[in-house]
Amino acid sequence: MVKDTLRRWLAERFDLEQIKGPLQAQIEKPLPKNVSWFHTFGSMSLFLFVSQVLTGILLLVYYRPTPGEAFESVKFIMTKATMGWLYRQIHAWGANLMVIIVFLHMLRTFVTGSYKKPRELTWVFGVMLFILTLVFGFTGYLLPWNQLAYWATTVGTEVAGAIPGAGEWIKTLLRGGESVSGETLSRFFVVHVIVLPWAVFFIVLFHLVLVRFQGIATLEPVGQEKKPKPGEGIPFFPHHVTKEGMVFYLLLGLLVTLAILAPFELGEKADPLQTPFAIKPEWYFLPMYQVIKYFPKLVGIFIVSLAPLFLFIWPFIDRSKERHPLKRPVAMTIGILVVLSLLVLGMMGYLSESKKTCPV
Ligand code: HEM
Repeated sequence: MVKDTLRRWLAERFDLEQIKGPLQAQIEKPLPKNVSWFHTFGSMSLFLFVSQVLTGILLLVYYRPTPGEAFESVKFIMTKATMGWLYRQIHAWGANLMVIIVFLHMLRTFVTGSYKKPRELTWVFGVMLFILTLVFGFTGYLLPWNQLAYWATTVGTEVAGAIPGAGEWIKTLLRGGESVSGETLSRFFVVHVIVLPWAVFFIVLFHLVLVRFQGIATLEPVGQEKKPKPGEGIPFFPHHVTKEGMVFYLLLGLLVTLAILAPFELGEKADPLQTPFAIKPEWYFLPMYQVIKYFPKLVGIFIVSLAPLFLFIWPFIDRSKERHPLKRPVAMTIGILVVLSLLVLGMMGYLSESKKTCPV
């Protein structure tokens, strides 16, 4: 009854038939048969981004971005605000899980050769999203203004300062002065809550429009892909959407479980005069930190800056037509070596206790 009235009300104002057709086509669009559970990492990344935005809005109600109030406001959220402990922990765990899931999604598209023609731009937007996810983590880490965050940011920005030529300028731009201060907090806050969410929103939009228009890649070689005809393949709705609903439910369960069983501590308030015993960046920066620590200064910076560039241009380097992983031994060997190096370097970084304030 209400539905009919609403439909009539809308039909008197808009040409519903014109909207209904393309919408229905998108919903009913069949997906290729190779679409599996691994193809839910993309929507999981989206789920986590939305969760970060929602919990971030809740955090903003009480958070204050000044050195005098930041730490106390987070403490207030964790101890006094209604359900504050829960949404703060979901936000902190969500940030970590998002790095893992976005990386796994990138790995999946790499293994299935989905970055090849005609989807090179989808990959390029994806690399931007991966980098922005890391920047989200870097800027968010400082916001509670605790010792770990303060000193990890000091180290992180010091690394930027070692870049030949523009390094000092970048460091001052990031810090807003000589050292990490209230000015840095303000800058990181604006980037974290305004610039990054909108940038990610629009890039995700472009990414998804491309995915929808070009369809999910099959494992057939470039130029020989056959789009599934209506009635063939896997229906997007309800089959794939049900799978996505299931993984969202599991992710939410995982977030709440981690928030309860393994909460992130707030630690001590930042003290610019007291260097803590061990300064560690967040785990996902450990491989990079290790490279900078072990290679001569400029070589380390060179390797670390080259990595994102290499990721961006990868679809234009690997121009072979094969998509099946077993038919791409060179690409797969490079992929496996990169993943193993990241794991080994990350583990080495985790195990090495460092007293230094700066590896460079
Ligand atoms: C916030 C981050 C991201 C979101 C929300 C996102 C979302 C999605 C979704 C929903 C899909 C379709 C389903 C699927 O294939 O899983 C997709 C496909 C794709 N994504 Fe992402 N993505 C993100 C990051 C990335 C990254 C980091 C890369 C690689 C560098 C990437 C590359 C691709 C490619 C190449 C496809 C096409 C897959 C195919 O046709 O088989 N995405 N993305």
